[in-house]
Formats: sequence, structure tokens, C-alpha cells
Amino acid sequence: MADSIFQKENELFFHTYKRLPLDIERGDGCCLIARDGKKYCDFFGGLAVNALGYNHPRINKAIQEQLQKYIHLSNYFVQEPQVKLAERILNVSGYQKLFFTNSGTEAIEGALKLARKWGSKNGKTQLFGLSNSFHGRTMGSLSLTERAKYRDGYEPFLPNIGHLKYNDVDELKANVNEQTLGVVLEFIQGEGGIFVVSPEYASELKNLRDKFGFLIIADEIQSGIGRTGKFLGFEHFDIRPDIVVIAKAIGGGLPLGAFLGSERVAETFTYGTHGTTFGGNPVACAAGLAVLEEVLDNGVMKKAGEIGGYLKSQFVKLQEKFPSLIKEVRGFGCMLGIELTFEGQSVVDALQARGFLVNCTNTNVLRFLPPFIVTRDHCDTLVQQLSDVLAMSLKN
Ligand SMILES: Cc1ncc(COP(=O)(O)O)c(C=O)c1O
Repeated sequence: MADSIFQKENELFFHTYKRLPLDIERGDGCCLIARDGKKYCDFFGGLAVNALGYNHPRINKAIQEQLQKYIHLSNYFVQEPQVKLAERILNVSGYQKLFFTNSGTEAIEGALKLARKWGSKNGKTQLFGLSNSFHGRTMGSLSLTERAKYRDGYEPFLPNIGHLKYNDVDELKANVNEQTLGVVLEFIQGEGGIFVVSPEYASELKNLRDKFGFLIIADEIQSGIGRTGKFLGFEHFDIRPDIVVIAKAIGGGLPLGAFLGSERVAETFTYGTHGTTFGGNPVACAAGLAVLEEVLDNGVMKKAGEIGGYLKSQFVKLQEKFPSLIKEVRGFGCMLGIELTFEGQSVVDALQARGFLVNCTNTNVLRFLPPFIVTRDHCDTLVQQLSDVLAMSLKN
């Protein structure tokens, strides 16, 4: 059975995904259960989507209740789940307006359009992304994304978009001016390997915005919705971006994203200047409300910060034990990275054989994006297994 699924996958799909050799039957809490009965503890978290793990009763209930009312109406209608979720997101974040999308990359595209429209009235045209960034696969997002791995062969990109080195204050100072429309950044880079913005960089970015009046656009698609122990990752710094993009965890597993704007851009769009058929699907929004009830009202965001802090401290101990194998431990909360001094795929494979799913990004960074409900037991067992795997690689 499993063989035929993999064979068919190979025949039917464009070869864009190198899939894991696992045939998953169901998920439960932090675990995935394969058809052969093997259980995996998931530190991959559906690539930062499954903040509450799998089969969460609150999310399931919200989805079932909304299914029985309506699954889709179109954005010609005001829809209660959208309104309730928008109100919740804006209240907790302090932003003025938002727009719902179906995905992260679509939310980045919308944020770009919002910025361009705003810039057209303010004589500002030049956008900057940062090195090592990832913002999605559509052409606008890809134009901002810097990593060659995602860009090669897709040229030409959108005009008036350049790239600056991450955390390089001098390069930032030398390049922004009155024509600068905006700087787009992940305060904590996900795909790039869990690199974190330095407080000096954040502070200089803020000063330069005050001086030149450009927009700061935060991509919080991976780091948002409480993953780092704060609702949005940039809250770890003394800065407030003008536009914020979220997705992944907000839909509780259903496709949902959004971009939020501060008062500076709140009146930029007028009727008909942007839109979507599916964006803000009511079932996804109902699931999103359930996610926020858990994350914000039920203390799950606080737990994400605490358990992530504990896991990080255990990783730091591993680094002390294996200084020749671990270069650095980075990140906040349930968004952590271990930079190895060698390519990480063999470690990922060994952990998988031991029942733990982790991901390797940028070839040598083990990335951990566990559900926020991950327990100390899960973390301790993972660290023990990782320690054993590293000890074995020392011997080989
Ligand atoms: C920081 C960041 N931005 C944008 C995206 C693109 O989101 P999506 O895959 O939903 O289009 C991702 C996805 O991994 C991401 O991590």
C-alpha cells in the first residue's frame, strides 16, 4: 500500500517536494502515527503550522460548528468568523487594519501592494529585503527573498527591490534614504537557519525610519502567533513595524494568512484596490479563533516561551558537551536552531529512525518548530536521543 502511494506520487506530481518516506495515518497531540503503527514525536510541527499539535478538540469543534453554518460565502458578505478573528488579532497586536489571505506568500504580496500604493503617494519606490531571507514562492515574495536556492532561474524579478546584508548596520545606513519605500525582514529568520536580528540593527532601523520615513515590514509568518513566547517575534526588540505579515499557525491547520497595517497605512487601500475570492475563509477563521483562545486565553503562548526556554537550555548543554559538533544554538521559544559544524541530514535521518521528526535547513542547521504543547518529557527524550546520535558521529 505505502509503496504504491510513493510510486504514484512520483508519477503524478511535478518533482518539487522531496517527501519523507513516511505514510502517516493520523496525528495526536505532539505525535504522528504511521500506517505501520510507528509513532513519531513531531518537532517539525507541520512547518510551524500546528501550534496546538494534532487533533486538538477546540479546533475540531470550532471547525465542525462552522461547517454546519456555511463553508464559503465570498467577500461580498460580512462574515462573523472573519470579524471576530480580525478584532482579536488587532486587539492583541495593536494594529489598525488587516486583510485576510489564503497563504503566507499571498499575504506578502498584499503587503507589497499596500506598501507600493502608499509609496506612490509619498514619492518612495525602493524596497529592500535582507540576505538569507525567505518570504515565499510567488514572484513578489521571491523578488524579496534573497537565497539563491529559491531564486535561481526565475529571473527577471520585480524592479526596485534590492538586498542588504542581515545585521549589517553600516550597509543599511549607506543604502536607505528619502526614496526608500521599505525594509522587509524576518526578525527571526526561519528557512535561513534561525538567525536573529541584533538589538543594534533593530535600533538603527528604527532611527533611520524616523529620519527618512520609510516603512518597516515584518514577516512574522513563521515566528508569529506566540511561537517565540510573544505574540509577534519583533516584540523581543524595541521596535514597532508599520506592516506585519502572519500566516501558518493562525489557521489552526487550515489555509489562512493576513497582513496588518498601522495607522500610517490604514487609509491607503480604497474599495476595489485589492481583493481575493477565498482569503479569510470562514471555517479557517473559526479555527483561527480557537487557536487564539488557546494561545492567548489559555496560557499556551506563555508555555511556548517556557518550554522553548527549557529546550534551548538543554541544547546549550549539548553544545558544551559537543563543542566540535555544535557551533551555535539560536532562537526563542518554540523556534530554535542548532548550527552544526557539519551537514545535518544524517542527524535528521538518525533521529527519525529513533522516532523524532526534525528538519534541517540551510544544510547545517537543525530546526525545531514543535507544537507549543510539547512537554518536558518529549524534550528530554529528544535531547537524550540527539546526544546519542552526536556521540556516534564523533566516533565515526
Ligand atoms: C518567513 C516566511 N515567509 C513566508 C513564507 C511563505 O508562506 P507560504 O508557504 O504559506 O506561502 C514562509 C513559509 O515557510 C516563511 O517561513
